[in-house]
Amino acid sequence: MEMDVPPEHQVAHLRSLINHHNHRYYVLDSPEISDAEYDELFRKLRELENEYPQLITSDSPTQRVGAPPLEAFGVVEHREPLLSLSNVFSREELLAWHKRTSTLLDDKPFDLVCEIKMDGLAVALTYINGALTTGATRGDGYRGENVTQNLRTVRSIPLSVPKDAPPRFEVRGEVFLSKAGFEKLNEHRVMEGQPLFANPRNAAAGSLRQLDSQVTAQRPLDIYIYALGWSEGSAIPSTHWEVLEYLKTLGFKISPYNKLCHSIDEAEEYHCTYERGRDSLPFETDGIVIKANSLDVQNQLGFVGREPRWSVAYKFPPTQATTRLNDIGINVGRTGTLNPYAILEPVHVGGVILKHAALHNEDYITNKDIRIGDTVIVQRAGDVIPEIVGPITSKRTGGESIFMMPPTCPICGAEAIRPEGEAMRRCTNIACPAQALEWLKHFVSRGAMDIDGVGAKLCDELFNTGLVRDIADFYYLKAEQLLGLERMAEKSVSNVLSSIEMSKDRPLDRVIFALGITHVGRETAQLLAVQFCSIDRLSEASEEELVAIPSIGMTTAQSIVAFFRQEQNRRIIDKLKVAGVKLESTANEPRDLPLSGQEFVITGRLEQFSRQEAETRVKTLGGTTSSSVTKNTTYVVVGADPGSKLAKAQSMGKTILSEDEFLQVIGEID
Ligand code: IVH
Repeated sequence: MEMDVPPEHQVAHLRSLINHHNHRYYVLDSPEISDAEYDELFRKLRELENEYPQLITSDSPTQRVGAPPLEAFGVVEHREPLLSLSNVFSREELLAWHKRTSTLLDDKPFDLVCEIKMDGLAVALTYINGALTTGATRGDGYRGENVTQNLRTVRSIPLSVPKDAPPRFEVRGEVFLSKAGFEKLNEHRVMEGQPLFANPRNAAAGSLRQLDSQVTAQRPLDIYIYALGWSEGSAIPSTHWEVLEYLKTLGFKISPYNKLCHSIDEAEEYHCTYERGRDSLPFETDGIVIKANSLDVQNQLGFVGREPRWSVAYKFPPTQATTRLNDIGINVGRTGTLNPYAILEPVHVGGVILKHAALHNEDYITNKDIRIGDTVIVQRAGDVIPEIVGPITSKRTGGESIFMMPPTCPICGAEAIRPEGEAMRRCTNIACPAQALEWLKHFVSRGAMDIDGVGAKLCDELFNTGLVRDIADFYYLKAEQLLGLERMAEKSVSNVLSSIEMSKDRPLDRVIFALGITHVGRETAQLLAVQFCSIDRLSEASEEELVAIPSIGMTTAQSIVAFFRQEQNRRIIDKLKVAGVKLESTANEPRDLPLSGQEFVITGRLEQFSRQEAETRVKTLGGTTSSSVTKNTTYVVVGADPGSKLAKAQSMGKTILSEDEFLQVIGEID
């Protein structure tokens, strides 16, 4: 801004710009400027406010954080109580609620608004003359805690509202932490050696009840506003749905999952949709809230005690339960990892009986201080393996025992060590039968060689009978050997053999993935296939060559080199080759990488890469490189002092790229 614009105007202009971009970013999730541009506006405003401190106002975006820590929270008397909801748990109960309500309304149909019930904590925000003045927790519904300083740090809560907003009003909503925000927070706490939060709800509550708002400001809290508590001095719309739309125009963040429904069946369907889809929601929820849409209808229905008759929470089946951790067992994985798992006193969770749950690794057990004999919270969500959330330490009797990872492999007895920097302890015996068997299961699995008809059970049998000891043995199986196994009739034998035969032709990336090299997942396997085009070439790759591939780090590179260094693995690969398994890529293999089918010629000196590095980048993205310009050339990349190739490219009308343009094509700059 220009020097001759008075500072108060500059400040006002910057604030309105920042508030606008803040709203785009935190409320609408749709920023219009980069973080750097936003930071620049913020910096300018700070600078002006430093120079002219008399211009600082409490609703300035610079003033979200900075109030001194409190001794204790004050009490806020809610002008209108914050209510609770009655719950229903089944379709029958829902229909009964609807019938009761309809009867009270003389069977006149009424619209409903369905909302996701957020698992956070309720707050009330009061705005007077356009500015946020008070933010309070729900407390007992009548009196809550004054957490204004902390709520001011929540970026999706506006500190000020437009001039045409009612002069005095209160909105209500749910403050919560997203699942991702919660994970990040707990990861950070592990590093700081602090106790972990059991779930996002506790973490949100803990964050909001900090006496020092600097701490709250570090927590990624968010809010959805779900009601107007009360308002004075302005007409407000006549339905709940329109009220929410109106609050949206004032800058409040309203849940995008809300739905206006015209029948109870639609509401039932909404419940079904999110019961199935709850795992993919970015936050935790334990049900839906159904509300009569018309405010007149709401008033007519009124309350019973502290529960409105016009609304009901329709809960999802619980995904958590508490039970006793009877013991901790160990599985040995494909790469020799010792995986601890919980042996539980069987318990019902969301419709199934759980006996086992994941404990991930040694650190997980230590960080959560999970002890054998503890009462623990178990959680089951969708397809994810059930896990132990944490112990309930208040239920300890003193009879619990601390778990120690065994120093040896429970399967073969070899020493088990935990390599520096890794979370898992591993069996050191490459011939460990547990590893060999898991390797077979991985090899035949979908995404790897995808051998139809050969599942985990058959792998067990083939391994235990000694017919298959390593992954190459599958290709040497004979019909008469299979016929000797249980439940294997002629038909299934021929199916199995033909699936095995068909798998010889899998694309190279699948074969690389199927080899089960530690740290080589599907994506890395794709990169390696594109880069090396054959197992032979991959097996000769050095650590340096491998780390030159973007997104392959030292750990993965070392693991690949170590894999091919092992004599036993080389023998197995030879056996695969002899059996006729295709170990190289063919030209017409389907590829969907960004530069597939594009050929690059690089000439001259590049500033940011060596020639080799530039070529590696192209190949990694699926392109090819060549040293001469031909009719197949797509792009010619020209650095400093180019040779005759530039002239040739020009004469052939090829697309010529500067180094910057090249960086754009390979997606390194925008
Ligand atoms: S409406 C009378 N809407 O659930 C209406 N509540 O037991 C009262 N909650 O403490 C609240 N999401 O913290 C409403 N979309 C939503 C909600 C919601 C979560 C919480 C709220 C309240 C509890 C009700």
